[in-house]
Amino acid sequence: MFSGRADFFFAAIRTGCVPASARKRRFCPEMLIFVSVKQRIIMEKQCVLVTGGAGYIGSHTAVELIAAGYDVVIADDLSNSDLRAVEGVRRITGVEVPFEQVDCCDREALGRLFRQYRFDSVIHFAASKAVGESVHEPLKYYRNNLTSFLNVVELMRATGRPNIVFSSSCTVYGEADAQPVTERTPRKPATSPYGNTKQMCEDVLRDAVAAYEGLRGIALRYFNPIGAHPSALIGEQPQGMPQNLVPYVTQTAAGIRECLSIFGDDYPTPDGSNIRDYIDVTDLARAHVAAIRRMCGGARRADYEVFNIGTGRGVSVLELVRRFEQVNGVKVNHRIVGRREGDIVAIWADPTLANEVLGWRAERTLDQTLASAWAWQKHLCGME
Ligand code: NAD
Ligand code: WQD
Repeated sequence: MFSGRADFFFAAIRTGCVPASARKRRFCPEMLIFVSVKQRIIMEKQCVLVTGGAGYIGSHTAVELIAAGYDVVIADDLSNSDLRAVEGVRRITGVEVPFEQVDCCDREALGRLFRQYRFDSVIHFAASKAVGESVHEPLKYYRNNLTSFLNVVELMRATGRPNIVFSSSCTVYGEADAQPVTERTPRKPATSPYGNTKQMCEDVLRDAVAAYEGLRGIALRYFNPIGAHPSALIGEQPQGMPQNLVPYVTQTAAGIRECLSIFGDDYPTPDGSNIRDYIDVTDLARAHVAAIRRMCGGARRADYEVFNIGTGRGVSVLELVRRFEQVNGVKVNHRIVGRREGDIVAIWADPTLANEVLGWRAERTLDQTLASAWAWQKHLCGME
């Protein structure tokens, strides 16, 4: 196409997003610049800073961003993760993704990172996330979740970075009056300091976007992320006793835990156990790519938008455990115990807005997701 055209030459260049020490291993056609004497068409890859990118959802999102043609920089203080996740991202993608160990609460260090890399967009995952711990250690949660977020938004404003995606949660709805919840469902007062930080950060983002020209934000309200990348090279790595259902299920199936406690079978639901909207983590990761595309592509209707990211399907705890056993052909010892304090009866998403506006929908079946969760557990235990 270009051979024989004297006025065309091309060169592969670096985007400036990745420092020389971390060059890609693979040839990426998107990075070509074609220069004409008459015409200059520059196709440059966009770069996304992923804070908390060594964590569960962040690492999967880094993979999907790279697959969609973005450059990625991961920043994480490794307070709830380790470098194996970054290595996993590099192995899956074949890209030597730059990693910076930075505490987003450290304004100076974060500022250096903003000076070092050229990115237009930030996805802010970095936060402490254990609901129960937040009740006993509220100041840790307010400090980490609010300070890190304020630093990121302030630096974006100061350095002219326009796009931010914030990791919010269905926890902002509390016990909603009707199901499924839409983005118009009123938020209830938070029942934990963790949940309160999500509501506060949403409000900070809404107000900052309204006040500062050029700043755009999307809050994604995740429902219950579960599962792992199909490669089983990255997944959830709970430290200590798992607090969430699926890691407890997989560890019980693997014999690490003796017995899963099911918190209540006397709720007003068809089988008496709680109902949630379990979303595959790779589907959730793709929602972030859709959000970044929307902001970069200028298709948004408002500078601050909120989307539910769920499947639209409610699944009970008992149903999930049964499906896990059937799909994977393993037994999960379980017993019914009393209700867990603070649990809501049921919640699931109406994801219509994300389907229609972001062009995103959950694609993986519950069976596929539960198979991936088990494959990941087996990888962790060296059982393959
Ligand atoms: P995670 O703990 O696996 O990932 C968070 C990452 O952020 C970790 O790698 C941690 O080391 C890092 N981190 C924490 N504080 C930091 C700081 N000050 N500076 C730099 N890095 C920091 O959690 P996850 O499940 O991947 O959750 C990611 C985000 O999604 C969080 O904001 C969480 O609140 C939100 N969220 C999670 C769920 C869920 O069920 N997993 C549901 C809704 C929302
Ligand atoms: C799911 C269901 C439990 C463990 C939490 C946060 C929420 C959001 C998502 C971040 C419930 C039952 C669990 C067990 C059980 N995170 N269960 N035995 O509570 O819906 O939501 O994660 O924003 O804010 O609160 O998720 O996985 O803990 O529980 O029976 O050992 O499984 O009662 O019904 P939850 P979960």
